[in-house]
Amino acid sequence: MMWQPIMEKVRSRLQSWKGNLLSFGGRITLIKSVLVNLPVYYMSLFSMPKSIADMINKCISSFLWNVKADRGIHWIKWDMVCGPKSHGGLGFFDVKVRNRALLNKWIWRFSEDTESLWKKIIVAKYNYDPLAILPKGISARSSNGLWKEIVCSVISNEEDFLLDVRCVMGNGVRIDFWSDFWTGVRSLKEAFPRIYGLVTNKQGKISEFGSWVNGLWSWNIELRRELFSWEIPSWNRFNQVINSGVSTFPGVDSLKWSGASNGIYNSRDFCIKLASAGKLQDPLWYKVWNKFAPPKVAAFVWKAMYSRLPVASELMKRGVNASVQPLCLFCKEHQEDVSHVLCHCSVVWQVWQRWCYLWRVRIIFPIDVRQLLQVWSSQFIRRKVRNLWHLGFFGLIWQIWLCRNKSRFNGASFTVDQLFNLVLLQVGFWGNVLWPTLVPQVLDFVRCPDAIIFGCG
Ligand SMILES: *[C@@H]1O[C@H](CO)[C@@H](O)[C@H](O)[C@H]1NC(C)=O
Ligand SMILES: *[C@@H]1O[C@H](CO)[C@@H](O)[C@H](O)[C@H]1NC(C)=O
Ligand SMILES: [Zn+2]
Repeated sequence: MMWQPIMEKVRSRLQSWKGNLLSFGGRITLIKSVLVNLPVYYMSLFSMPKSIADMINKCISSFLWNVKADRGIHWIKWDMVCGPKSHGGLGFFDVKVRNRALLNKWIWRFSEDTESLWKKIIVAKYNYDPLAILPKGISARSSNGLWKEIVCSVISNEEDFLLDVRCVMGNGVRIDFWSDFWTGVRSLKEAFPRIYGLVTNKQGKISEFGSWVNGLWSWNIELRRELFSWEIPSWNRFNQVINSGVSTFPGVDSLKWSGASNGIYNSRDFCIKLASAGKLQDPLWYKVWNKFAPPKVAAFVWKAMYSRLPVASELMKRGVNASVQPLCLFCKEHQEDVSHVLCHCSVVWQVWQRWCYLWRVRIIFPIDVRQLLQVWSSQFIRRKVRNLWHLGFFGLIWQIWLCRNKSRFNGASFTVDQLFNLVLLQVGFWGNVLWPTLVPQVLDFVRCPDAIIFGCG
């Protein structure tokens, strides 16, 4: 089986790492490198069968969530995991999407590589018009082959790519007048069937329907008979439409892909477009992937934004461990769910407030982690220490989570004071590494954060 080597490659590269020795952030990095290094040769020549894509995706997802032999939980749906960070994904793509992105490139190259050998072979084998700007289907004569597979795959997902490709008239020698998409309508033949019925020339390139006269394009479309008066409005509209597609000077005909701002197809933008379909772009995700927070902490916040963490309520929902203590171990009153243990808990909320008090900031009681981050990001903070304020969010949420783990697994317990001091220590530590002039020593921040924040001594 042709795809076997690729699957093996993914599996062995992921297995060579003991997933549980890497943090979640580290696993994301490794997955990205495995995906980037998939043999482009296969990926850009063959359409990957769905069954193979499913297997590879499952393998990657299991690695990401540290699921072994089907024991464990894929916490967030694959569809949400894949995709740009701006839309809540992790910044990598489903293999099948990438495969399709690479196959599309051939359609693009078909229009550009006019002189190359592969193009000549394809044109001869499939009986294409050598001038055509796009490969029009596949002739039944050749019933198999690489090219057929590529074109069929692209055509069967027409709405994702081909419908975004528009022909731009230059000198008009490569664009089909009646059937290519070069005016405001997808095909003139279909948009104006009555006029199509009336013309003498039912096929040919744009250049066969007009010419340049003194630098201006002028149409020369022959009709079989005079128009009836009631046909005039339709004829006028037809002329309006074709005039809107006329170029200003006789350059070369080209293609324009609406998926990229420069109009040139590229596989990355295609992946982004496909993977973000149906998802909302939210600038808050950029705050999650804050460049100052360590990657594993950012990845933790990403999961917290989706409320998918192994807290008691989530585990019970998934029937994982019926004997798990359902109560929050900070307050021992409420059931442990994500919003509770990270912000709502009376103990925990005091810690957040303590930090805000330090900054002279009043903060509303949030619905969940997502809203907390939103509120956090919208505070007006002095420019000089703004990054420190944002880092505080990560320091707080991370230390709260670490203490939660220590209470749960090591039987430790924490007061508000202790928790808060750990947070100061954490932020002081990060701050000292990131901005040694602002926080010269970790302990400076712990002893007198006021002095750093307000610069008063
Ligand atoms: C279930 O929870 C109990 C008590 O917290 C623990 O001792 C046990 O190891 C857990 N079992 C599994 C399979 O996680
Ligand atoms: C905290 O505990 C969870 C299990 O509830 C575990 O999956 C996670 O790795 C722990 N996190 C840290 C940072 O120790
Ligand atoms: Zn609590």
